[in-house]
Formats: sequence, structure tokens, C-alpha cells
Amino acid sequence: MKRLLSYIYPVTKTVVSQYSGSLEITWYNGKKHLNSKNANYSYGSLQRILKFGLEKVNLSKVNSILVLGMGGGSVIETLRRDFNYIKHIDAVEIDPVIIDIANTEFGICEDEALKIHCADAFEFIRTNNKNFDLIIVDLYIDLSVPDNVISTEFWNNVIQSKSSKGSIIFNASVGDSKDNSIKTLIDYIKSKVFKVDVYKNVNNTNTLIITRSL
Ligand SMILES: C[S@@+](CC[C@H](N)C(=O)[O-])C[C@H]1O[C@@H](n2cnc3c(N)ncnc32)[C@H](O)[C@@H]1O
Repeated sequence: MKRLLSYIYPVTKTVVSQYSGSLEITWYNGKKHLNSKNANYSYGSLQRILKFGLEKVNLSKVNSILVLGMGGGSVIETLRRDFNYIKHIDAVEIDPVIIDIANTEFGICEDEALKIHCADAFEFIRTNNKNFDLIIVDLYIDLSVPDNVISTEFWNNVIQSKSSKGSIIFNASVGDSKDNSIKTLIDYIKSKVFKVDVYKNVNNTNTLIITRSL
């Protein structure tokens, strides 16, 4: 019923989170989305942006994935449904309210191929000692990438956590005040890894950075 009504007008449920403030689960044009006050977190344009990134990676050679910023889990849905990716995924999300929404509203829950870590990605990657073939960095609070995610300390740890032939997809910005810090960070990443591609205006909004190794 909600799906049908959503073709006429958006149907919204609000949940409050300590990290992101007011979150909305909205049925819109027959599809459920997770939004913060000003941004789409999951299952809308964000899902299309990350899908664009995944199309640039040879997933047949990827045996393990780390998602930093699980949100409602739309990139996990894309990997499983659109790319038939059945191998192991580790997902990190700081907000227990969002982990609960991912489960109850979008059916994203742990199984033998998905481990969900309720943790701060900055701390998780600092103490991580596993290597991943693909790391997806999608950390936002509303429209903003948190400051520590733009730090060289965070990126040294991310680069160290990828396997020697691994890739990174970084959903870097939506054109906010941190543009200059992001540009400096891109130069830093370029000095550390073999190949860095920067895609601007993906889905008319975001900058996506994809790194590849030799
Ligand atoms: C755009 S959403 C992620 C969407 C998700 N990748 C998907 O595919 O649906 C950004 C998420 O980053 C999470 N986040 C922000 N800072 C974080 C941190 N330091 N550690 C872990 N998660 C964080 C937010 O709680 C939010 O759920």
C-alpha cells in the first residue's frame, strides 16, 4: 500500500539518531530511501553513484570488500543483486540506529558472507590487520565528510588495509566547504598509489575517486 501511495506523494517515517539527527525513511516513486535532513544516505542517488564506481572495478578479481559507512546498506544490495557478488563483505557503521534501520527497513543483516561492525571507521581502520581487495569509503554526516576522514592518518591506514592489487572507491564530496581539503587529499593519495581517477559530477553531484594498483 505504501509503495502504491508513494507514486502519488512521498510517504515518510522519521527516526532520530544521535549522530545524524533526524533520519527519514521515505517511500518515493515505489522505492524506499534513507535520507538525512539534507542528503540521500541510501537507496536513491547515492546508490547510483556507488554503482557507477563499482562498474569501474573488475569485481571478478575481488575476493573481499570493506565498506566504511554502511548506512542503509544500498551498496551491499547493489553488489549482491546487480553484480552477483557473493563473496565476503565487512561493513562498518558508527550509528546503531542506522544498523537497525538497515535490518528492519531494508533487510540488510549479518550472515556468513556479511559481517557488520558497529564502530567508528577511523578507529576500525587504525587497528585493522586484514587486507581487502576493495575498500569503499562512504562516510558522511548529513552532507559533510567528517574531518578525520580527510586526514592523512586515516588514508595511510586505508591504503595499508588494501591488498597489493586492491582498489579503493571514495565518495569524496558533494561540493561543500571541504573542496580544498579534498583536492589536497587527492594529491596526497596520488603520491601513495599507482593510479587515481577522479570522476566529477557523478549523477550530477558527487566527486568519486577510484584508486587502482599495478
Ligand atoms: C552516505 S551514508 C552511507 C551509505 C551506504 N554506503 C550505502 O551504500 O547505503 C554515510 C554513513 O556514514 C556513517 N558514518 C559517518 N561517520 C562515520 C564514522 N566515523 N564511522 C562509521 N560510520 C560513519 C553515517 O552514520 C552514515 O550511515
